[in-house]
Amino acid sequence: MSNIVLVGAQWGDEGKGKVIDYLTDKVDVVVRSQGGNNAGHTVVVGEKKYILRLIPSGILRKGKLCVIGNGVVIDPISLWEEISELATQGVKINSKNLLVSECAHLVFPFHKMIDEQREVSKGAQKIGTTKRGIGPAYGDKIARVGIRLGDLLQRELFTEKLQSRVKEVNVFLRVFGQKPVRIKPLLDQYLEVGEKIRPLITNTVLTVHKAMVAGKEILFEGAQGTFLDVDHGTYPYVTSSNTTAGAACTGSGVPPNRIDLVIGAMKAYTTRVGEGPFPTQDDSVSNLMHSMGREYGAVTGRARRCGWFDAVATRYAQILNGIDELAVTNLDGLDSLGRLKICVAYKLDGKRVEVPPTSVSQLERCVPVYQEVDGWQKSTSDARTFDELPQNARNYLHTICNLTGAKLKIVGVGQSRAQTIAL
Ligand code: IMP
Repeated sequence: MSNIVLVGAQWGDEGKGKVIDYLTDKVDVVVRSQGGNNAGHTVVVGEKKYILRLIPSGILRKGKLCVIGNGVVIDPISLWEEISELATQGVKINSKNLLVSECAHLVFPFHKMIDEQREVSKGAQKIGTTKRGIGPAYGDKIARVGIRLGDLLQRELFTEKLQSRVKEVNVFLRVFGQKPVRIKPLLDQYLEVGEKIRPLITNTVLTVHKAMVAGKEILFEGAQGTFLDVDHGTYPYVTSSNTTAGAACTGSGVPPNRIDLVIGAMKAYTTRVGEGPFPTQDDSVSNLMHSMGREYGAVTGRARRCGWFDAVATRYAQILNGIDELAVTNLDGLDSLGRLKICVAYKLDGKRVEVPPTSVSQLERCVPVYQEVDGWQKSTSDARTFDELPQNARNYLHTICNLTGAKLKIVGVGQSRAQTIAL
């Protein structure tokens, strides 16, 4: 093994939690570099189900160090809740298994208020955010008015910064007819939680650097997916961070020449939650998944939009991320189908295109060109080797990986740790 970046090759929810959990067994350190508690990684171990939002999924394996890097935005109340929830599930967290960057930016309740307010104001054009305040928090970071975790540990400095920030935010809230933020309770709440997480906060650039110098192997776990990337995704229907492979470096302070391998996670079909174009969306696939109780969001519980596998999108994801190997998850979701569709190109205003247009208004007009293949109509959930999969399922996997342009490495045939096939 070496230093690996795992990214989502679609619109998020590609089953990365399970893939990370599998890969973590083979590495020493797991790093999160972007996003916030808008992410929700579900990992099933034995009878227990864990939903991780900010903490890297590696926390579930003993003896692994998890790092939340500078590129993540942190709601410390939510982080503390997650730490406490995990403790009730028997996962103890301290500075031996979790460190958090002092340069990570804080998410405040007023970020959530602004997030909600913007969604309301946008009306039909809303993004469909998770309402976790992610966009406004990253907005503050880029506008250079953000407050970082390291500030939280310096009482006077933090008080000063928060007072100044709240003053400006209250002007904004007043315009929207919202109640102003009261500084005192907010200060007390954040200073209190700051003390609880103080032992975890450090310069994680050095932590990761030292681990690399010591020959330890590192997994950078991506959150969300390629098409939610603020630069390369279906803007403005995206999240507010870079979700593509490069973010592993900027969001953790690791130089690009230390990355050895990029693994892309993708579902055997496609899903998307929130608004925005989704060319292969198909009601029959949505109905099938929802009837099986699948494809409801881990964080918000929202029903995901579902559709056929979109190789135009995943091929572009391969280009953007430099994906070497693929982890295809949720193959079992397609077990009952007699025929399957694979999108191999789009038709845009009558012309065939092989790459997704970068303008959402054009993407909205794209009509998928499908190749149809036979299904396997057998359960795959008990397969533990590639050869145990039905022939048509193997053919399907080879087809979607060839179209994407990377090697198949892992196949997921169910939620549990055991339901993973390594090639
Ligand atoms: P935000 O990240 O809450 O601002 O939401 C922006 C868009 O990204 C919305 O469409 C969300 O549904 C989507 N999104 C954010 N996080 C995730 C995720 O972890 N999985 C899937 N979609 C996400």
